[in-house]
This record gives sequence, C-alpha cells and structure tokens, in this order.
Amino acid sequence: MTSQTPVAVITGAASGIGLATVRALLAGGWCVGGVDRDSDAVARANREFETHGGAAVFRAADITDETAVADAVAGFEAELGPLKGLVNSAGIGRDTPFFETTPAMFRQIHEVNVVGTFIVAKAVAAAMRRTGGGAIVNIASVSGLPGNIGRSAYGASKGAVITLTRIMAVELGRYGIRVNAVAPGPIETPMVQAHHTPAVRQEWNERVLLRRYGTAEEIAEANVFLLDEARSAYITGQILAVDGGFTTGGLLGLDRA
Ligand SMILES: NC(=O)c1ccc[n+]([C@@H]2O[C@H](COP(=O)([O-])OP(=O)(O)OC[C@H]3O[C@@H](n4cnc5c(N)ncnc54)[C@H](O)[C@@H]3O)[C@@H](O)[C@H]2O)c1
Repeated sequence: MTSQTPVAVITGAASGIGLATVRALLAGGWCVGGVDRDSDAVARANREFETHGGAAVFRAADITDETAVADAVAGFEAELGPLKGLVNSAGIGRDTPFFETTPAMFRQIHEVNVVGTFIVAKAVAAAMRRTGGGAIVNIASVSGLPGNIGRSAYGASKGAVITLTRIMAVELGRYGIRVNAVAPGPIETPMVQAHHTPAVRQEWNERVLLRRYGTAEEIAEANVFLLDEARSAYITGQILAVDGGFTTGGLLGLDRA
C-alpha cells in the first residue's frame, strides 16, 4: 500500500452492512481492516479479498474483548498504516415484547451494541488522535429513534449509540476526529432474514415511504460518504437516518380513505 492510501477499520465486517461497507471502501481506494467474531466468516472473507493484494485484512475478534480489540487495532495499524476511518457495524438484535425481555437479554444486547462499540471506538480514536484525526461512523438504527414495538433492549441500546456518537463528536472534534451515526431502517441482511416474519415485513413495507427494504449497499454508500474527508469534512455529531423515509412518516393511510 502507498503511504497515502487511507485505512479504515470495519467491525461486523464479515456480513451484511459491514461486508458491503468493506466492498464499497475498497472500490473507493481505501484499505480495510475487518473485525468479526465469526471466525468461519472471517476465513471466507480473507479468501474472497485475497485478490485485492493485501488491501483488506480480516481478523477474528469479539468487540467486547478489550485485549482482542487492542491487538486487532494495533495489527491493522502496523500492517496497513495510520487509521483514518472506523465503521462500527457489529451488532446483535432481536424482537422481544417488554414483559418477555429478561435482564440477561438486555445485558447481552447492550454488551455488544453499546460496550463493544465504545471499546472499538476508544481504541481506534486513540490511534487517530496520535496520527492527526479521522472519521468514525457508528451504526445505530431507527429503533433508537421512535419507539418500535418489541425493541426495549435493542432500541435502548441504539439510543445509547446515538448519544455516545454525539458525546464523542463533542470530545473528539478538537483532535480532528469527526463522529457521526447512520441509523438504518429495515435492510435486507442475514440479521433481518433471521428475525423478520412475513407480518413484520408487511408492516415495514407499509410504513417505509419508499415501500421497500433497503440494501446493505445503500447503507455502505452513506458510510463511505461520512468517512470521506473530501465530501463530508464539515459534518460531525449528526445522526443520518437511511431508512426510506420511515422516521419522517406519520399517518400514511389517508390516500386510501
Ligand atoms: N439489517 C437491518 O435492518 C438493520 C437496521 C438497523 C440497524 N442495523 C444495525 O446494523 C449493524 C449490522 O447489522 P447487519 O444487518 O449487517 O447484521 P449481520 O448479522 O448481517 O452482521 C453483523 C455482523 O456482526 C458480527 N458480530 C456480532 N456481534 C459481534 C461481536 N461481539 N464482535 C464482533 N463481531 C460481532 C456478526 O458475526 C456479523 O457478522 C448492526 O449494528 C445492526 O444493529 C441493521
């Protein structure tokens, strides 16, 4: 790699939105260090991206493990160069009614979505502070904005990611580090395919103004834009809903009355 090639770390890099972001960044001339806890998927990704001549390197690590994250981040910096971008896409979720949500489920979702995001952001931001700044995108969700049914644990975790994003933007701006969040609506990924029943799909399709699920590539484009210093240098502390208009809609049925 040349010393000018920007390097980004992507978590949840072996599936869905993370994997689409890796592809979009490589197409945009970035190098990528990918982290995922699924070691089989990491091995597949390393094989898939072999042809990119070392521009994409994947490591198996759990983002809730501070030591594993520190090792991965140091390894990417040594192998690829100074870190200029981070997309925190690793996350877990499920739909569970409030009264059926247990403290164990609540803790598990917060441990990955909030604590894990914080651990990776802190490690990468420390590297960026040493090397002149960069840009971070935390993947939140529309479930962290309005109150979606069944999302007490997941929605609260994504609400925390949104607040964490704003506070990081406030504290890290002085180091030339921009921090934004992307809040996806329903996106066709393995996570959604595992959890969305036909009834859930129908409801989303009725409430999303564009009447369809989004693609992982559409989220990846927003991530690349927010990492790209040439296009978004004055944007920080923002929460960008990429949701087909879901969070803008109110009553949608009047045209059918
Ligand atoms: N798909 C959607 O509709 C949607 C909507 C809003 C927000 N999101 C968010 O987007 C992000 C990506 O979701 P996706 O739909 O691509 O899901 P996905 O399940 O396809 O990908 C998530 C990846 O994260 C990895 N991961 C999970 N926990 C991890 C951990 N502790 N350490 C390391 N890696 C871990 C998984 O192994 C997986 O490869 C998540 O934060 C999710 O909450 C998704």
